[in-house]
Amino acid sequence: MSAVREDSQPLLRPMLDEDVDAVMAIEEKIYPHGWTAGIFHDCLRVRYSCWILEQGEEVIGYGIMSVAVGEAHILNVAVSPECQGEGRGRALLMHMLSTGRRHGAETAFLEVRPSNRVAIRLYETAGFHQVGLRRDYYPATRRGREDAVIMARDLGDIEP
Ligand SMILES: CC(C)(COP(=O)(O)OP(=O)(O)OC[C@H]1O[C@@H](n2cnc3c(N)ncnc32)[C@H](O)[C@@H]1OP(=O)(O)O)[C@@H](O)C(=O)NCCC(=O)NCCS
Repeated sequence: MSAVREDSQPLLRPMLDEDVDAVMAIEEKIYPHGWTAGIFHDCLRVRYSCWILEQGEEVIGYGIMSVAVGEAHILNVAVSPECQGEGRGRALLMHMLSTGRRHGAETAFLEVRPSNRVAIRLYETAGFHQVGLRRDYYPATRRGREDAVIMARDLGDIEP
């Protein structure tokens, strides 16, 4: 894997174990029931496609994806709160889709909370559509559980 950079754009590069502290600082800010550091280290250990979005020396976002048997599963996409709404989440997502395609995926899947309107809007405008619902999948913010919307996208039109 090689890092990609365009002038005046944030850098997208593969995640390293050393990045996990900075990743956790964002994860803890944005998710009430986020991943642990151990989950990120496990994703790196099993060689999932793990990406860092960096501006200057600062980690401002990350994405995790598994690719196997023609399917890309987007497991985590996040941009730090102070950098959201500026097109970075979309850039990270599209980068992961083309990486998935390059590794032989024909379809991409992800799960999202129905209450996460910003993420759903991003995924819909990036070509994803709902293909299912997992009942009571996530812990809810206050109490009980929240469903997961399962979304998918054909990768045929994505440049590898
Ligand atoms: C979801 C997330 C990754 C999007 O990243 P981002 O950098 O904020 O998003 P972008 O600026 O690239 O915007 C992408 C699209 O999201 C939608 N969007 C972004 N901000 C929005 C807002 N405040 N209100 C409504 N829609 C919004 C829009 O459709 C936007 O596309 P457009 O600008 O062409 O209209 C980011 O908000 C985030 O990290 N959220 C917390 C973690 C999370 O929920 N991750 C997804 C879990 S499934």
